[in-house]
Amino acid sequence: MNLNREFAYLLISICFVACLSCQRSHSTSDKSQNNSKDLYEPSELANTMREMAYDMEALRLRVYSGELSAGEVDDLISSHSKMGTDNPTDIDEIKPSFELFSKTYIEQLEELKIIVLNQDKISEQIILFNAALSTCVSCHREHCPGPISRIEKIKI
Ligand code: HEC
Repeated sequence: MNLNREFAYLLISICFVACLSCQRSHSTSDKSQNNSKDLYEPSELANTMREMAYDMEALRLRVYSGELSAGEVDDLISSHSKMGTDNPTDIDEIKPSFELFSKTYIEQLEELKIIVLNQDKISEQIILFNAALSTCVSCHREHCPGPISRIEKIKI
């Protein structure tokens, strides 16, 4: 009985460490730098990702109420495309699937833009907005599970 409980605690802590792996890798890979100010400096990719999360959160209500403009989607496309070339915290943690997910995500934004331009139904826009967020989640399942619950909350 007791052993089982200890085993469960062990499993929980392993999961916890795995979930924090993105944050942890920040500090391990930065250890080589002497300057302590750089210790918590986020990578280019982490900075782009933070912007992506803010952008999608900010547009959520506009999509919901049918006020999204093609120009706004264009802005997302040009700033979020950076993720394909940004330097990550730890290049060894980037899997071959990264490229495909990042391409799919941008293609979904392109499709969303076309639907907005055609003034198609809001429900169609919502489906594509959520589909792009599902691609965020799929990539995160493979790379960095920490932000998944935050991303799921942006879906409509
Ligand atoms: C192609 C894969 C991929 C896609 C698509 C993707 N992410 Fe990420 N995301 C990553 C990786 C890898 C990291 C870790 C970056 C690093 O540490 O350098 C990350 C990190 C993050 C972080 C943490 C940044 C920090 O502060 O360290 C957030 C938040 C995030 N992503 C949100 C999103 C959102 C929101 C979307 C979609 C709108 C998204 N991501 C799409 C791969 C992806």
